[in-house]
Amino acid sequence: MTDDPRLNPQGSEEMDVHTGHREVDPVTGYDTTGHDWNGIRELNTPFPKIAIWALALTFLYSVIAWVLLPAWPVGQDYTRGLLGLDQGEMAVERYQAISLDRDKWLARFETEDFATLQADDTLMLPAMVAADRLYQDNCAACHGGDGGGGPNFPVLNDDHWLWGGDPAAIAETLHVGINSLNDDTRFAQMPAFDYLERGERIALTDYVIALPHGTADPSAAGATLFADNCSACHAEDGGGGMMNGAPSLTDDAVIYGQDRASVNQTLRAGRQGVMPAWTGRLTDAEINLLALYVSGLPQRALEGQK
Ligand code: HEC
Ligand code: HEC
Repeated sequence: MTDDPRLNPQGSEEMDVHTGHREVDPVTGYDTTGHDWNGIRELNTPFPKIAIWALALTFLYSVIAWVLLPAWPVGQDYTRGLLGLDQGEMAVERYQAISLDRDKWLARFETEDFATLQADDTLMLPAMVAADRLYQDNCAACHGGDGGGGPNFPVLNDDHWLWGGDPAAIAETLHVGINSLNDDTRFAQMPAFDYLERGERIALTDYVIALPHGTADPSAAGATLFADNCSACHAEDGGGGMMNGAPSLTDDAVIYGQDRASVNQTLRAGRQGVMPAWTGRLTDAEINLLALYVSGLPQRALEGQK
């Protein structure tokens, strides 16, 4: 209690029902609580109306939501709500609709030939999106997200193919794999040339590392050794393309590396990369879908560069 005249500027004599006294703060016009801490008085600020409204409205909403939507657990079950909405069921229904649609167009990849499929734009558009997903899930770990390859894994987005780049050849590669456990696997053996003399291997290496730069000397000892030992698989000019898994040695699309150390290692120990067989893991339709996708990777890479 205080007799300070500033605390009752309006001269109101009205009593506070709780505290039995009335002190109005002159600055804010609010009541004070009557507490006094060394001359500091606590305002009795009214609770903001907007908060009360918000509380009332959210409470009202919750009552409506309880009635309309699934809400209360009842033993093993729950109240369904008048609207009968269930997001779990809705998700399942939508998923079924999508997979039904997918099964319908995917089935065409099992039966129709590649040219017919490729000509159908309305089919290829959604199919290539699905194929990209399939590729990212199964192939990207080894061949790179854009087919750019990586150390020990061949590039798929250029026009150099070990086993052919048309969809049928790629589908066959996917079915049987390369050096895989499949009975019909494609074989790609780079034999070890450890029986050659060290000087011969060095001469060969000199020749091979110069090939991509077009600076290989045809009269060098390495050229003769190459013709004698290598051309049967890699072609006379080292250009590959003989469908035996031996890559071209004349471009930058290398699997293991065409620097001195890598070539030396290739010659000393040989190479035998493994590409798993996908029969049994992917359906025939999925393999054909992927074959079309992979055959289009070089084109995609070109468009990406523009
Ligand atoms: C475990 C790693 C690995 C995975 C996963 C993998 N590949 Fe391969 N793939 C290889 C290797 C290694 C080679 C090269 C084999 C060799 O040395 O001749 C290869 C070769 C290929 C070739 C032959 C390329 C050519 O020039 O003819 C194609 C096509 C191919 N892979 C496509 C795929 C597709 C499509 C997938 C996904 C379904 C896939 N690969 C998944 C490792 C893999
Ligand atoms: C029997 C066939 C065969 C013969 C002969 C052969 N190669 Fe190969 N070579 C291959 C195959 C297949 C590969 C790919 C191996 C793989 O993919 O795992 C390869 C890979 C290579 C590579 C790695 C290319 C890269 O992209 O990194 C080099 C380098 C190479 N050979 C050089 C030679 C040289 C030099 C000779 C001769 C001394 C030779 N090869 C003889 C089949 C052969």
